[in-house]
Amino acid sequence: MEYIDTHTHIADEAFAGEEEDYIRRALEAGVGKMLQADIDSKERERMFSLVERHPGVLFPMLGLYPGSVDANWRDEIDELERWKDRPVVAIGEIGLDYHYGADFAKEQREAFRIQLEWAAALNLPVNIHLREATEDFLAIVKDCSHLGLRGNMHAYSGSYETFLQLQRYGDWRLGIGGVVTFKCASLAEVVRKVPLDRLLLETDAPYLTPVPHRGTRNESAYIPLIAAKIAELKGTTLEEVAARTTQNAQELFGI
Ligand code: NI
Repeated sequence: MEYIDTHTHIADEAFAGEEEDYIRRALEAGVGKMLQADIDSKERERMFSLVERHPGVLFPMLGLYPGSVDANWRDEIDELERWKDRPVVAIGEIGLDYHYGADFAKEQREAFRIQLEWAAALNLPVNIHLREATEDFLAIVKDCSHLGLRGNMHAYSGSYETFLQLQRYGDWRLGIGGVVTFKCASLAEVVRKVPLDRLLLETDAPYLTPVPHRGTRNESAYIPLIAAKIAELKGTTLEEVAARTTQNAQELFGI
């Protein structure tokens, strides 16, 4: 079986010096491709150099993470411009996050819109990080419907109704990760209802570790645990989940 981890952070300092072991364990677990979500200028150079050493296995995204939008956000956007000629599979992770307060909410919305426009101009999908800002997020994607957006909602935690609403403003998939293995009735319900051809597997490593490794560092090698839980919820086989989610990722990200 072949899996794709559509959202991970091998360039995170949690894996410093252990990247090769991380990749080896993932490949042994059948996770043949791993998409690297970009955060900000602190990690970007490291991410691209890792990707260069693993062609066909690691694939980069480019984007400014909403949690990194602060007083210097315009410099960060300018810095992104430097990398825009690189082949990337998505603009991400981008979006809105008001969890730690809304001090830079206006700036987050502005940075998000700029990057949605880039994605449209470059004909790339987007990888969305959304936390505690659903209303503003929906207002922006509605307003940007004309851009023909497509992408995935990373670590989706919304409702089935929000998923349906989203489809009116673009072509959206849901990224399902370790949270699906927690006792989380609302996500289980979403996974049961949303068709398998709308789901993608992801870890968000080093975060959101699935059961039974919860409480330790996450990694792409745990993707089969997430696939197994989805298979259980949907009453289908692991093979079916692996095949369909891999195909979904290949189609969306062109890999
Ligand atoms: Ni992430």
